[in-house]
Amino acid sequence: AADPTANRPLAGLRVAISIGGTREPLDPVRFIGNRSSGRQGFALATEASRRGADVVAIVGSIESHPPRGLNSIRVGTALELRDAMLSEAQRADIIIMAAAVADFRPAVAGEHKLKKTGPDQGETVELVQNPDILAELAGSRRDSAQVVVGFAAETGDASASAIEHARDKARRKGADVLVFNDVATNDVFGAANNSVVFLDGRGAELGAATGTKADVAAALLDVVQTLRSAR
Ligand code: CTP
Ligand code: CA
Repeated sequence: AADPTANRPLAGLRVAISIGGTREPLDPVRFIGNRSSGRQGFALATEASRRGADVVAIVGSIESHPPRGLNSIRVGTALELRDAMLSEAQRADIIIMAAAVADFRPAVAGEHKLKKTGPDQGETVELVQNPDILAELAGSRRDSAQVVVGFAAETGDASASAIEHARDKARRKGADVLVFNDVATNDVFGAANNSVVFLDGRGAELGAATGTKADVAAALLDVVQTLRSAR
């Protein structure tokens, strides 16, 4: 008999995925933020749904259209994104941090519009670091089967190559899969094509993929399914 789960390998599983950038208010009308097209996250949400998963997307600021019918929760700041992800993580079997979280937020968000004080007068804004949501999620798995995924776009520099930075990051975050993208060889921001390497929590290679964002999404979910079936 045909196996009804063959084409829906994620049936019965819940996926929580964060998508887009965050906006950190300076005052009632201004913010500091991270750009993110949201397209890789939406491709993942679409592919996970197609594979039968129950998907919830936690969506910040985006520069593309969400797929029709996506179950989503809108968020603004990194702290709002954190609250939503920690709450959704309690019922999620698979957690994906595809969001571009702002690393810093203004120490105080002014209640009133920041005013210029005179001609040629600059302004200094104090920033504080946002919490590392991915590391928190990886450190508080609800059970041993829960799979936690993050992304890292890196460049090489004088201290290390891009992949070396990614391996360090994989070890720091402790996610089950870190999707590494080399910014120098990929036009990642808004590009149609992607080349990525999947790293485990020790920085070891789990696989690689090249193609459209849909191809990368499918390859990543294959890796996630393999991890789950091994647990
Ligand atoms: N991330 C997160 N919380 C943050 C920052 C990043 O959960 N405050 C997640 C991102 O969603 C991504 C992964 O961590 O999945 C890596 O993001 P990245 O910006 O590369 O990592 P950072 O720890 O912020 O390191 P860097 O200083 O290189 O920006
Ligand atoms: Ca960062």
